[in-house]
Amino acid sequence: MKLLVTGGAGYVGSVCSTVLLERGHEVVVIDDLSTGNADAVPLGAEFIEGDVADVAAEVLGTSGTPRFDGVLHFAAQSLVGESVQYPEKYWRGNVVTTLELLEAMRHSGTQKLVFSSTAATYGEPEHSPITEADPTRPTNPYGATKLAIDHAITSYSVAHSLAATSLRYFNVAGAYKSAGENRVVETHLIPLVLQVALGQREKISIFGTDWPTPDGTAIRDYIHVLDLAEAHVLALESSIEGRHRIYNLGSGAGFSVREVISACARVTGLPIAVEDAPRRAGDPAVLVASSDRAIAELGWRPEHTDLDEIVADAWTYLQELGDRSHAARR
Ligand code: UFG
Repeated sequence: MKLLVTGGAGYVGSVCSTVLLERGHEVVVIDDLSTGNADAVPLGAEFIEGDVADVAAEVLGTSGTPRFDGVLHFAAQSLVGESVQYPEKYWRGNVVTTLELLEAMRHSGTQKLVFSSTAATYGEPEHSPITEADPTRPTNPYGATKLAIDHAITSYSVAHSLAATSLRYFNVAGAYKSAGENRVVETHLIPLVLQVALGQREKISIFGTDWPTPDGTAIRDYIHVLDLAEAHVLALESSIEGRHRIYNLGSGAGFSVREVISACARVTGLPIAVEDAPRRAGDPAVLVASSDRAIAELGWRPEHTDLDEIVADAWTYLQELGDRSHAARR
């Protein structure tokens, strides 16, 4: 298939592009490099630097035979805390941009879409694990914008025969080959803890030690980015015209912040300094996915669910990244 990947210079987008190229697909990446990195776009992909809202119509074309078989839409603003502070950035950057993309797809007759949705669409869960039938009550603008887009996609599927899949990611981690987490502003637990191991950060703050969990720290469901990429391939290949399917994607097991820190210490063999800190605004205590629907309908199976393996892949990636930038400076 010939595929348009928005946000292909970002973490998940670059890993998925790598996997799609390996499977023989043709990949064109659009990325404005606002948070992504041009070096992350895998070799073999065509790269167009630009804002999706500005260039999608031109890239997809306006009429006649569609130029692309499908679109994987990763490009987004995705920091929960920032979305609370600057909601305008999220409503424009996520919702307005995606509406432009949907219109460009409609005008060009491009029908397959895989969209990066999120567990943040559910908000504070009533029970665990979370299923797709659970209420969607986002507790921050980030989750609200992603949910609004899910609603828009549903109506486009019904009215305009879009063959769409929204994948609701839980906590994505790990790396694949030369693609991994390398953000200018890092807020995610695993890369931050590994920065402590690398000596780039003095200590890791544990946001809340009084949660109603066995060790008092918050529990998350960490999914290996390679398992996530596999789900994108399966979703694309099984797309159904006129249907919008929604799937949770997690490993199905929860790990506490302290367990993640212990895994990082085990994998790196290095001490990790920690400090107890207050809870972070907007954080739920426990977020664990039921991925039963993706397993049953997509035939997906998470294979890299071992926390130490996820951390080890992230660690290898960060060390190689450090070696590469060191070599580049010499
Ligand atoms: N945490 C710390 N210290 C830190 C950073 C994080 O204790 O320095 C804690 C958080 O409070 C949370 C857990 O580690 O309990 C995981 O935090 P992350 O920031 O790594 O991830 P989040 O769970 O906040 O959010 C991620 C994505 C969201 C997505 C969500 C869904 O960033 O986009 O997973 O599960 F919506």
